[in-house]
Amino acid sequence: MEDVELSLSPEALKALLEFQQEEEEREKKLKSLYADAEKKFEEVKAQEGMRVFKEDWQLSQFWYDEETANNLAQALLEGANENTVIAILSAPSVYVAISKMSPSCVPTKHIYLFEYDKRFEVLAGSEHFCFYDYTNPLEFPASLDGKVHRILIDPPFLNKPCQTKCKLQLQVLHLTSVLTFHQVGVTANKLLAKANDCGEQERRIMISTGERMAEVVSETYPGTRKTTFTPSHANGLSNEFECYANFEWRGWKFK
Ligand SMILES: C[S@@+](CC[C@H](N)C(=O)[O-])C[C@H]1O[C@@H](n2cnc3c(N)ncnc32)[C@H](O)[C@@H]1O
Repeated sequence: MEDVELSLSPEALKALLEFQQEEEEREKKLKSLYADAEKKFEEVKAQEGMRVFKEDWQLSQFWYDEETANNLAQALLEGANENTVIAILSAPSVYVAISKMSPSCVPTKHIYLFEYDKRFEVLAGSEHFCFYDYTNPLEFPASLDGKVHRILIDPPFLNKPCQTKCKLQLQVLHLTSVLTFHQVGVTANKLLAKANDCGEQERRIMISTGERMAEVVSETYPGTRKTTFTPSHANGLSNEFECYANFEWRGWKFK
């Protein structure tokens, strides 16, 4: 059979090139629309914050007021650097407080929200949201095993079994060496200074829970102490809350 060389007429070639150019432009426009929509979504998220998430009392949801959420967020971020890994357990308003901050005030991107209510996945994004049921403390992303430097725990229920499971979560996520500081008779600040001298990350532990859990907290988390900071709630929850921590900073002292 005779070879036939296929070639396009100049008009057809011109039409093809125009079509390709139009396709590229369409794709560029679509990408820019996506980017705009994403930016707008981030802005709305930042402005609306916790207002869009109605409290579900079945899930024991009582949101902090802004001042409390900000103070707990600052306690997690102060002195952190780009390698600091932070886990926030069952305290979405603290995660929201961080996401509302200007990026220059948030030194690390490794901040994870552990939460049972999947509505918050939209807010944190799938990379930073870890579904968390306190009854299954061993089900969490393997990449965070023993990697967390700073942790805030806000147990959903005011009882000992819940605190005990939360402690197990702390143990698997966090390197707990600082927990025993008062048993060896050094102050938290001295120990933390030592940790910093070694170039290690300061390991912070905070537990925010009902005042009536005081005894259970001191048994369950032996290196933490009651602080002068009193968490308060946006909708006037009447239960007295306390914050326990293994460190002092400008936001609180040990009681
Ligand atoms: C006492 S609230 C703490 C919220 C915090 N005050 C705030 O403002 O973000 C308890 C949190 O535990 C979550 N929670 C409910 N059931 C849970 C479960 N089985 N495991 C882990 N967390 C749960 C709730 O969705 C809620 O965010």
